[in-house]
Amino acid sequence: MRERAHVREVGPRDGLQMVKTILPSARKLAWCRGALEAGIRDIEVTSFVPPKVVPQFTDAEEVARGAVAMQGLRPSVLVPNLKGAERGFALDVPQVNYVLSASEAHNLANVRRSTEESLEDFARIAAVRDQRPGVRIALGGGIATAFGCTIAGAVSEARVVEIAARLVEMGADEIIVADTVGYGDPGQVRRLMKAVVAAIGHVPVACHFHDTRGLGLANVTAALEAGVRAFDASLAGLGGCPFAPGATGNIDTEDTVFMLEQLGFDTGVDVEKLIDLRREVENWLPGERFSGAIARAGLPKTYRPRAKVSA
Ligand code: COA
Ligand code: ZN
Repeated sequence: MRERAHVREVGPRDGLQMVKTILPSARKLAWCRGALEAGIRDIEVTSFVPPKVVPQFTDAEEVARGAVAMQGLRPSVLVPNLKGAERGFALDVPQVNYVLSASEAHNLANVRRSTEESLEDFARIAAVRDQRPGVRIALGGGIATAFGCTIAGAVSEARVVEIAARLVEMGADEIIVADTVGYGDPGQVRRLMKAVVAAIGHVPVACHFHDTRGLGLANVTAALEAGVRAFDASLAGLGGCPFAPGATGNIDTEDTVFMLEQLGFDTGVDVEKLIDLRREVENWLPGERFSGAIARAGLPKTYRPRAKVSA
């Protein structure tokens, strides 16, 4: 039995934040369905932010509702505050991913308050979650700019570990450590992720890398060495935070799955189906810059038998 590694598709959220085309809800849901058919069960499907902040997510309720209804899918949504979390709770979305930044300057630019205020808001979100009747909704605690910030520069590793520990203490079910602007390098990733895993080892830890400086997949291998087994990625390498200067795309989902499978992990994902889906998504988004090597070069003949998808 191969060890499992989890890939969460964040294209319908992170991937669409900066694209010019407002994608109709039906296409966002077709993206989710296609990813599910390729074997991806975890998809961050939208973002509950005010429509005027990111117009792409004006249809967030419709997309979340459609995704929640998709059998076999475990959708999550991104939220920046209590109001966003309440929108997710109202639709019984299985996981709500809260985002704050380790960099004060980016937190201010992104969510217009201090990191401490964001931490206090997370405590309120967890309290509301805990008081809800019915199915328990999982809370992800996302730490943006954990490896550095294009506004502030260096970010303290001790501060990232402290934030992770506090989010867990307050009720986070998963910690997502994000390199929002692609400043991380493998040495730094290995060191910081070892420290995070050691501090909150009983809670699942995911990494969210952007390939801005070409080190995205190298950082995945470093995080694997530190014990991380879950990664966010975006189809065709789309993505980027509109409130972080110089941000570019996430690590590419197809390439990430390819590498994890080659390293011997079981992702449950069929790369060829992902490539077919990617072609469709490319057609929907004229004028965008797509990345990823496997879609361009094709799988090597030596590729291990691909995952059998039973969805
Ligand atoms: N969803 C919908 N509406 C929301 C909302 C949410 N999550 N949060 C706030 N609002 C509404 C408020 O009700 C208020 O509406 P009103 O003017 O009709 O009364 C208005 O937006 C302003 O609310 P306020 O709490 O003052 O927010 P703000 O203007 O200080 O903005 C955030 C704070 C967090 C909402 C905003 O900065 C944000 O959405 N940031 C996320 C940015 C992002 O998506 N980054 C990329 C992902 S990392
Ligand atoms: Zn991101």
